Amino acid sequence: MRYKTDILVIGPGIAGLTFTIKMAEARPDLKITVLTKTTERESNTRYAQGGVAAVWDFENDNFEKHVADTLDAGAELNDVEVVRMVVREGPERVKDIIKWGARFDKNESDEYELGREGGHSENRILHFKDLTGWEIQRTLADKVRQFENVEVLEHYFAMDLITQHHLNRIVTRVTPGICCYGAYVLNKNTNETDTFLSRMTFLATGGAGQIYKATTNPVIATGDGIAMVYRAKGRIANMEFVQFHPTALYNPKGLSPDFLVSEAVRGYGGILKAADGEEFMDKYDPRKSLAPRDIVARAIDHEMKVRGVENMFLDVRHIDKKKFLDHFPTIHEACLDAGVNPMKQMIPVVPACHYMCGGIVIDKNGATSIKGLYAAGEATYSGLHGANRLASNSLLGAMVFADRSFKHISELIDQSTFEDKIPDWNAKGTTEPNEMILITQSTKELKEIMSSYVGIVRTNTRLKRAVDRILLLYKETEDLYKETVISPQLFELRNMITLAFLVTSGAQMRQESRGLHYNTDYPDEAPYNEITYM
Ligand code: FAD
Ligand code: SIN
Repeated sequence: MRYKTDILVIGPGIAGLTFTIKMAEARPDLKITVLTKTTERESNTRYAQGGVAAVWDFENDNFEKHVADTLDAGAELNDVEVVRMVVREGPERVKDIIKWGARFDKNESDEYELGREGGHSENRILHFKDLTGWEIQRTLADKVRQFENVEVLEHYFAMDLITQHHLNRIVTRVTPGICCYGAYVLNKNTNETDTFLSRMTFLATGGAGQIYKATTNPVIATGDGIAMVYRAKGRIANMEFVQFHPTALYNPKGLSPDFLVSEAVRGYGGILKAADGEEFMDKYDPRKSLAPRDIVARAIDHEMKVRGVENMFLDVRHIDKKKFLDHFPTIHEACLDAGVNPMKQMIPVVPACHYMCGGIVIDKNGATSIKGLYAAGEATYSGLHGANRLASNSLLGAMVFADRSFKHISELIDQSTFEDKIPDWNAKGTTEPNEMILITQSTKELKEIMSSYVGIVRTNTRLKRAVDRILLLYKETEDLYKETVISPQLFELRNMITLAFLVTSGAQMRQESRGLHYNTDYPDEAPYNEITYM
């Protein structure tokens, strides 16, 4: 099938749907098509727990404090102008989603109850119990249904962006004026590859936690958008900054994803402890359990290695049971399901891959290095997060850049046209059925490599070993890709291999330790800025 849509949105999480709602409301004359590889409500957004960070209580908090906390967590590798912009515009974006119907918890005085998380000097996290992401996804999905000019297509897997390359022109990473004309998409309902032509494309495909064995990210998080932009020769930066959340619920059976025990629990008084009850965090940071995530995750990793144990603990037994249940009902239930009663036993926790701070390079308007292609959310690198994202700044940044992209695209869309000469997908020579065992086995191997060699603490030898093995997997998988019928699983594997390569080679290039990237061969900070890829 061949589709023509004024604007193609890939990925209906918080970034994609915020953009779509704004665009659809402002321009009912434009046709907007939203694609998702699974269902409309499945995304990383849906699982967000802690909430959205925004300066709300202007009596105690202010923009400069939020900016300072973001820079401190980001090890000053952030773009200060971008941080200021996001922090200042953030509260207005939160008001947008409240206007669209999002509920956030309030106190007895009917004021929003503001939570605290690691690295924040004030209470500024708006939340809906421990289900903030579910509430946001629900709100956005309901709202988007109100627009007749929006079509949401479920089970449509975006495979590749269409550029001049598909008009048989040579496109390299230094070719100026690369344009995006839409995307080739595998319709999982029919197994056909469809061509979607668009005047503008907005990419919001989220993160890539699935490249690690232990991750809080759902199975959709395979970095497809980042890999697509890399293949289209767009700019990607700083992928070495992989955020490990300190407190996933210990999961000895290795079920994926790992259940998150929100940092908001520590913000509410939960204390990190060893099995013998020792509070170990004061050895690492005066903020103890509420230090920024990179510090806490590294501390837990270190304690586990030194003590030779498989997990540390989060103690919430001193918190009032009713209040705990009221604030964290899902976490309480997940602990009970895992055989732990958090009111009576300490919660066993381990770090797990959680967030990609690098990604597709975007400017302040959400524009990528490819003309006609905008992006927002976890798939992007804007300069907001620096070397380590401050808790609950992701949802905030996604909304701000979705809004800015909407404004910029609104100014340009009337001058942009379709490129009709694009050929349909060429599936010649790919007649062999997919060998699923090869795909699942390589996926397992990739996760093993990343978890063993490119984790919280890195060394040159481990990184070299990882790159060598990733390149082997890359070769085998590209051979498979050339011969076999395409499938979402094969595309996801290719994308994850690309992401693993970008993370690992970025880590090799960054010869310093900063924020989330810690290499024992270069223990100090050095004056590096962006790591980009050729
Ligand atoms: P997503 O919400 O991940 O949406 C991406 C969409 O793209 C999905 O619908 C996906 O199916 C679709 N997609 C992907 N690839 C393709 C493809 N090839 N074709 C078609 N569709 C595709 N951040 C905070 O700020 N506060 C929190 O409290 C918080 N808690 C979190 C808790 C958990 C457990 C997790 C995992 C993350 C949390 N985060 C939190 C991070 C935050 O949720 C994400 O960074 C954010 O939701 C990403 O939004 P997004 O719109 O960029 O992408
Ligand atoms: C959490 O609730 O701990 C996650 C918050 C975040 O990822 O920002």
